[in-house]
Amino acid sequence: DRRCHDGAMTEVWAHRGASGHAPENTLPAFELALEQGADGFELDVQLTRDDEVVVIHDETLERTTDGNGWVADHSLEDLKRLDASSGHEQYAGTRIPTLSEVFELVRDTGTVVNIELKNSRMAYKGLEERVLALVAEHDMAHRVVLSSFNHYSLRHLVGLGTELALGALYSEPLWKPWQYAGKLGATALHPPLAATRRKIVEKSREHGLAVHVWTVNEPEDIERMLALDVDALITNYPDVARSLVG
Ligand code: G3P
Ligand code: MG
Repeated sequence: DRRCHDGAMTEVWAHRGASGHAPENTLPAFELALEQGADGFELDVQLTRDDEVVVIHDETLERTTDGNGWVADHSLEDLKRLDASSGHEQYAGTRIPTLSEVFELVRDTGTVVNIELKNSRMAYKGLEERVLALVAEHDMAHRVVLSSFNHYSLRHLVGLGTELALGALYSEPLWKPWQYAGKLGATALHPPLAATRRKIVEKSREHGLAVHVWTVNEPEDIERMLALDVDALITNYPDVARSLVG
């Protein structure tokens, strides 16, 4: 049960895969995260023109691929022609993965997958339903955490009756976020590193919420979050975090 801290060690979740070493949100980055001993990884999803769930951070293609324009204006077939190696020459030819392909990759592992729904700029009608269907199809419910900066989307998921773990993702300090997240129906807080203090972790625990903090790259920050006993730290460098967490 991922909803509540159970006294276990802090988990290491690779942010967009092992994105400090390999092209973000690609299968090589997820494979490397597994090799480096990550307990899980975070990835970002968007919806294609033909309603396929693809793993890519931006709403547009320019930064991480050799394509142009909006993800939403392209079919999966179009997107699969693009190179997503983001300037990492040794990974030339790497494609944008689908969420299904990532689930296939982790099928025989215990890896946690934190799926961030990137639906703040784009409404992506039906994204929540598509993601839930894929989670069920691949039997991933017990090790998936859904998160979003769009809390209307989280409410929509609650309204759909999902029993999946839900992370209230935010980027600026909130007042009593444990109360807010509880009212929202979330099961976890996903606070930014800069807003993660001892009180937040303690109050979250009292309220039955897990704390998954992002993005924790520097060794001293990793040590600080370990001292707070967060449930998971989301990092571009799972190798570094693994060496410190043990
Ligand atoms: O989910 C945590 C973190 O990934 C949120 O910010 O921009 O890296 O998706 P971003
Ligand atoms: Mg993200």
